Amino acid sequence: FFVKSSHFKKGYYMDFKELASKYKTPLYVYDFNYIKERYEALKNAFYARKSLVCYAVKANSNLSVLKFLADLGAGFDCVSIGEVKRALMVGAKRYQIIFSGVGKSDEELKEALENEILLINVESFAELLRLEEIAKGLNLKARISIRVNPGVDAKTHPYISTGLNENKFGVDAQTAKKMYIHAKASEFLEPTGIHFHIGSQLTSLSPIIDAAKIVSELLRELRALEIDIKFFDVGGGLGIIYNDEKEINLYDYAQGILGALKGQDVTIVCEPGRFIVGNAGYFVASVLYEKFNGKKRFVITDGAMNDLIRPSLYGAHHKIFVDGKDENLGTCDVVGPVCESGDFLAKDINLPECESGDVIVVKGAGAYGFSMSSNYNTRNRAAEVCLLDGKDRLIRRRECFEDVVAPEIEFLESADARAK
Ligand code: LLP
Repeated sequence: FFVKSSHFKKGYYMDFKELASKYKTPLYVYDFNYIKERYEALKNAFYARKSLVCYAVKANSNLSVLKFLADLGAGFDCVSIGEVKRALMVGAKRYQIIFSGVGKSDEELKEALENEILLINVESFAELLRLEEIAKGLNLKARISIRVNPGVDAKTHPYISTGLNENKFGVDAQTAKKMYIHAKASEFLEPTGIHFHIGSQLTSLSPIIDAAKIVSELLRELRALEIDIKFFDVGGGLGIIYNDEKEINLYDYAQGILGALKGQDVTIVCEPGRFIVGNAGYFVASVLYEKFNGKKRFVITDGAMNDLIRPSLYGAHHKIFVDGKDENLGTCDVVGPVCESGDFLAKDINLPECESGDVIVVKGAGAYGFSMSSNYNTRNRAAEVCLLDGKDRLIRRRECFEDVVAPEIEFLESADARAK
């Protein structure tokens, strides 16, 4: 049983059993051909318009994924200086990097300024003043954009909805305007962009367009004040198909945004994460045991919530199949070895009868999979593999116990030393 890769036409297959036996499990596998297809589809949607696709690094920050996207010409949306450094490390252009986030530290702001990235995305008046101070200290002019919270309901999971005033993100339009006026008058601030992001896994276009209209109106007011905004950043959030969702049509998306701008001449920036990498990724685990507690059936795998937390954290449904088997035995929970009842990859799904060594594959795991993984229960984080043009190669080795304890080991005291 093979899953067709997006490049089936060229005859490439993914043999998960072979990958599992070669690289061991748990394992993440990414189809780089699919990443390229998705990046290009989005870039082409804005064809003949000034646009910049800044991939949201947080979705999947593996250096080889970033390098691949940088080579395709992508920019990067970063939410920590660590992510900025990852982007720079793979050769991203400084003028294609933006730095967002509701709580950046002084050190992060300083380093971002020193690296002369395209934009620092400011999310409060207090942060603007802080940034001005830091820029002054460095005798630099900080290019800023301001995240406007347009107060629209993105109609997605509350944990990933960000465009309502009750969410912690951004500032309201009135505050944004005051901040821009302050920035224009400052020697050390240069208003350059305007930004919004209303949530993630969006499958309905209208909230995005509503937000774009509100922010575009503010843009018009700013331009009337001779505040020269060059970048209109519509955030990320394009949803993908995990089960039976419908994706937003990219043509409608681009046209809707251009329509909201009503001819204002700006470069459109978007910050997709999940859209580009989500369905490129597969999480591969091995079955350890199958058991029944009364009537309840459990398939226990070597993959767990520390590897892929989306089902536990958001109740997210990822499709799962057992490689090489397709006759369902009945419903079961797919669970991992972590000591929590919340440790599951799926609940009440139909799966074939499993035996030890079977390989299960969780789909749609390319975004917020590995990047949200942890060492909980002192589990080593998984290996990551790239598939490109039918060839597989390791892009992150599996962690070992020594990796996990390394930051602690030097602080171990002997009982004798403690007694002194
Ligand atoms: N830009 C900003 C300012 C963001 O906050 C985010 C995501 C993105 C772009 C990228 O959004 P995307 O295109 O990937 O939807 N861990 C959650 C998703 C959290 C998203 C946080 N912000 C999940 O697994 O569903």
